[in-house]
Amino acid sequence: MRRPIIAANWKMHKTPAETLAFAKEFAELIRGAEGVDIVIAPPYPALSELGRALAGTGVMLAAQNVHPEPAGAFTGEVSIGMLADIGCQYVIVGHSERRGLFGETDEFITAKLRAVQDGGLRPILCVGESLGEREAGRTFEVIAAQLEGSLARSDTARAEELVIAYEPVWAIGTGKTATPELAQEVHAFIRGRLAERWGGAAVQIRIQYGGSVKPESAPALMAQTDIDGGLVGGASLDPASFCAIIRYEDRVEK
Ligand code: PGA
Repeated sequence: MRRPIIAANWKMHKTPAETLAFAKEFAELIRGAEGVDIVIAPPYPALSELGRALAGTGVMLAAQNVHPEPAGAFTGEVSIGMLADIGCQYVIVGHSERRGLFGETDEFITAKLRAVQDGGLRPILCVGESLGEREAGRTFEVIAAQLEGSLARSDTARAEELVIAYEPVWAIGTGKTATPELAQEVHAFIRGRLAERWGGAAVQIRIQYGGSVKPESAPALMAQTDIDGGLVGGASLDPASFCAIIRYEDRVEK
């Protein structure tokens, strides 16, 4: 019913030349991979290059960030129109590294999310609790507040195009993947909140899990009812390991 979506978040890794080398190998490896949306978010300088190198493969491009204004005096920023022009279809918004390291607030995130939707692109909205918040028993409260704040200005008519990524901060880049049961519990909670907001549309919204996803952990995570794909950092930098995650279905017993 929901088509899985596996996205690579390369963060600040790979030059355009390294991106081309990845693309060459990756295009061969994913030949024939069906029934899954594949998305890659390289750093800005490699976006066009990657789009050209993977043309015809069905792989879609994402940006890791964007500014909500269409143009103006915003040194160092990139607009949605610029991303659309080079064939970008998705934009990651609200990643915990942007929230934590760059001070992004829910108010700014919801402005971006709405601008992405208005510009005809699709947001991948990240939410997730820190270790301290989990240990204090505040996971659901934190996730609910992030959803509320980050979706405050979202376009109801485009609800079904939204992708949510649940990324527990304690699992990002640490090698500590959430157990499938723990992730499912939060995913179900997120879907419940989306249903309260948008009713039936919530059934269509894809919710990715992110945080140290590896080829070994992917099948059990993806087999969970409310996990519809992954947002993959470290393991997406290598074509073979990213491909093994994409082809998780080959290893899921149904
Ligand atoms: P990781 O990163 O897979 O390296 O934990 C995931 C992310 O931050 O999106």
